[in-house]
Formats: sequence, C-alpha cells, structure tokens
Amino acid sequence: MLTVSAGFPRSAGSAICAHADGAYNACRTPSKDKEDRMDHIDVVLVEPIAEIRPTIYGHFAEHLGECIYGGIWVGEDSAIPNRDGIRLDVVRALSRMRPAVIRWPGGCFADDYHWQDGIGPRAQRPRRVNLHWGEVIETNAFGTEEFIRLCRMVGAAPYICGNVGSGSPREMRDWIEYCNLAGGSTWSDARAANGSPEPHDVTYWGIGNENWGCGGHFTPEDYATEYRRFATFAWSFGGKPIYRIACGPAGNDTDWTRRFFTKLRRDYHRTPGIEGYAAHYYCGTAGTATEYTVDQWYELLDKALRMEELVVQQRAIMDTFDPKRSIGLIVDEWGTWHPPVEGRNPRFLWQQNTMRDALVAALTLNIFNNHADKVVMSNIAQTINVLQAVILTEGDRMLVTPTGHVYEMYAPHQGAQAVRTVLQTSGIEYGAQGRRVPQLSASGSQREKTLTLTLVNTHASAPLAVEIRLHGGDAASASGITLRADDIHAHNTFAAPQRVQPVAATPPAVHKGALHAELPPASITRLDVALA
Ligand code: AHR
Repeated sequence: MLTVSAGFPRSAGSAICAHADGAYNACRTPSKDKEDRMDHIDVVLVEPIAEIRPTIYGHFAEHLGECIYGGIWVGEDSAIPNRDGIRLDVVRALSRMRPAVIRWPGGCFADDYHWQDGIGPRAQRPRRVNLHWGEVIETNAFGTEEFIRLCRMVGAAPYICGNVGSGSPREMRDWIEYCNLAGGSTWSDARAANGSPEPHDVTYWGIGNENWGCGGHFTPEDYATEYRRFATFAWSFGGKPIYRIACGPAGNDTDWTRRFFTKLRRDYHRTPGIEGYAAHYYCGTAGTATEYTVDQWYELLDKALRMEELVVQQRAIMDTFDPKRSIGLIVDEWGTWHPPVEGRNPRFLWQQNTMRDALVAALTLNIFNNHADKVVMSNIAQTINVLQAVILTEGDRMLVTPTGHVYEMYAPHQGAQAVRTVLQTSGIEYGAQGRRVPQLSASGSQREKTLTLTLVNTHASAPLAVEIRLHGGDAASASGITLRADDIHAHNTFAAPQRVQPVAATPPAVHKGALHAELPPASITRLDVALA
C-alpha cells in the first residue's frame, strides 16, 4: 500500500504524512495489507488548504491550426450559427465547462504578434505569416476586440500574453492602455471607435512566452533583465490592478527558476512586481493518441503524475526567494502531446482525445486542487482542435472530448475550499522497469455543507472499492457522476459524438458518517456529499 497525502508540507509537526521530495509515492506504509482489497481516503475537513481559484480551470487558445480560425472564429457571414463571428455551438459547450480564464494569443505565436495588426476594420488588417505554425497566412480577423468578446460570451477572464521576443515594452504598455484606460488618450479612444467605449479591464498579462525557446532563446539572466524592463512599463492604468506573469521553466527545469529569481533578487533589488510565475509541462505521449497498450496507458498516466514533482519542487525554490508566498505558481500550458495524424498538417497539432487524456486531465487537476495554496492558475493546451482539446470541430459539427467532460465535472471545485485528503492505495506495476502508478487519486473541496470529491481509478481493467472517512464532519447523503468507458481507447467522433460522456454514478453507501464507493475501472468520479 502507498500512503499519499495531498498538498505541501506546512509545518514540521504535521500529523499527516507529507511529500518529502514531490514524488507521489514518497510516503509508503510498510508492505502491510497486501490482501486489503479496499483503498481508503481520509478527508481532513478541519485542515482546509486554501480556496481553489477558479482560474485553475483555465484554457489556452493560440493562433495555431484550427483553434481560433474554424474552432472559434467563423466570421459574421458564415453559415455556421454565430454571434459577431464567434460560433455559438462552441460558446455553449465551453460555457458548460465554466472556463474561468482564457490565455491568448499564444504560445509561440505571441512573441511574433503585433497587436495593432488585429484592431480596426477587418478588411484593412494586414496579412502576416504565422512563423511557428506552418507559415500559414494570418488574416488578423481575430484580434483583441474579438478575443474580449469571446471571453465575455463564455464568462472567462482574459489573459493576454505579450510580445517580448520581437516586441517592445512600449508596444506592450500601449496594448494595456488600449484595453484598460477608461478614456481620453489616443489608444483608449481607438478602442471606443472599435466598438468598446468601456475598458476591457484585462488583469492578466504574460511577459512573454517560453522565452527560453521560441520566445527569444534567452538565458534565465537575460530574460530576468527583459522581465524587469517590460514589467516596469506594464502599467496599472487608472490604478486598475494588473497581474504580471513571468515566463517560468520548460517542464521542471529547476535551474531556470533558481537563476531567474537569483538575477531578479540579487541584481535588481528594486525590481518591479511579479505576481505570477508560469511553468509549462507537456506530459507527451506513449503510443499514439488512440493506439496504445495497457503498459502505455500507465506510462502516460505516470508521466502526467510528474506534475506533482514539478509543483512541489518549483514552489520550494520559489519559497526561498519569496518566503511570504506572494507570487502565484501558474502552469499556463500543459497536457498531452501525441504524434501527428496522417493526412493532417503536422504543424496544426491536431489530435484525438480518449479516456486516457481524460484521466491525464483529472489527475492533473487533482494535483492543482491539492496545491491550491500555491497554484493560482492553469491553462490546458489547447481549447479547440489543438493538442489536448476540450472541443473538436469539423465544419459545422462540434463535439466535447472526454477531457472537456472532465472540466464540466470538476467545475464545482471552483471557488470552494480545498481540503486535505490522505490516501491509502496500491501501486500498479507496469513496464519492464517495474514502475508503479498509484491506483487512486483524489482531491476534495468544501463549500458550506457540500463536499465535492473527485476520484480517479487508474486501473485499466479492475474496479476499486474505496472507503472515505471524514474528519471534522459526517456525511448525510451522497450522489455522483462518473466518466467511464468499456474500452480504455474510447473517444468521441463526429459519427458517435456522445460515446464517452458522464453518467450517474452508483450512489455511495453512507454508513456511520463514512462513505463506501465503487469506482469503475479506468474512470473519473465526482461525488457530491451532503454534510450532516
Ligand atoms: O501549445 C503549443 C506550443 O507549445 C506553444 O505555442 C508553445 O508555447 C509550446 O511550446
């Protein structure tokens, strides 16, 4: 059995077994209970972690392949039902996932994007070459006004990633002025002339994207210097708060983080603020998007679970520079990345999305919930038709992927108090090296008298019985929904768009204030527990 405790060590005297080094299986009970066929979760209601910021449930939409053009933007004259050019089927489906924030316009695209190309009459907007994503012609039909409109339609906060690689501090400060100044300046008047007299009030601003790579190939020290310059002019116009997000590491690159913060703190004592720090982690693939063995099923889940290590190690380094924990940890790109599909442009990063991707999403979101005291935002890559999309479109057709259903199921966590969970679970051995994946993953949150638990049974073929004991409260009743399929490769297609979708879960039995649930193989379950 493994004992897995959610969250970050808070105090040396914590009664709860905690991660020492970020490995999910850092704490093991000696090999007792080999025959124990029931896993256990202790939900410590008296130990709230922090509020789960809704922005953990964020998305990322880049000018890449058919994410924006075709996926979101079809234009006012399209036969596809739209409002002001934005397709309505997508708006409806996305709204059900409660997307708290959307990051735009990239990605790599951001550091080659000049925002003034994307405002004003559409017919007069310049046509540019999209360098990174197939050198296709970017018409700029979708620009700042269209992006803000999308955000308003689905109820998301806009997060704009600025251009450090090929842009200037002036270009970024002008963009912020265009968006946020109430009126009176040339830029704010231009916004009004473009149909938006009221300011857009964009809070989240990225100071570049992947500046260690496509965003300019900076060293951490060089980027720190650029960060200082850009952040100085990323202005709070009219005193409106803005949240500046620095480019963090590629995966769990601890060297980048240490060197970036060392340069900022050692050489630039008067450095301007840094509110958020964003890592990117793609867990990649094993096999292909739809073809994989059982070992490859576990291999990819194992890679996804390394997000825990990233969060634990990155936050530990950040703590040494920011002991008051005022800087939020963000993962503004994450997800699976499968090999290109024959017959599709490999630069468009289109991929199918199966139950395996859904489990990757659920495991990752559980990790973020469990670190709600540090992780303030995450943005899955990407919203539509690209990488681990929540929605796929083809012409006028649209479907919600298994990953999209996970976002619908997890929505009640948004804004609730994360509570600590301690798991006793078994490790499933896979592959020639005998690696292990825990069979159970969980996170929990409480809002008044409702406890929401999201549980993943990673086993490809075996169900899992779980006893859930509450500390600091009793369960009165419970219901739930589950995402499962009889085949680990199951996915939605335009011929069968609802093959994978949530169904009512077998209601857990409540006995003496504890719960007994049965989790189907390869499934994600949300339990809604009414507390006595
Ligand atoms: O999401 C696709 C690309 O992956 C992004 O443009 C880039 O930031 C990352 O490398």
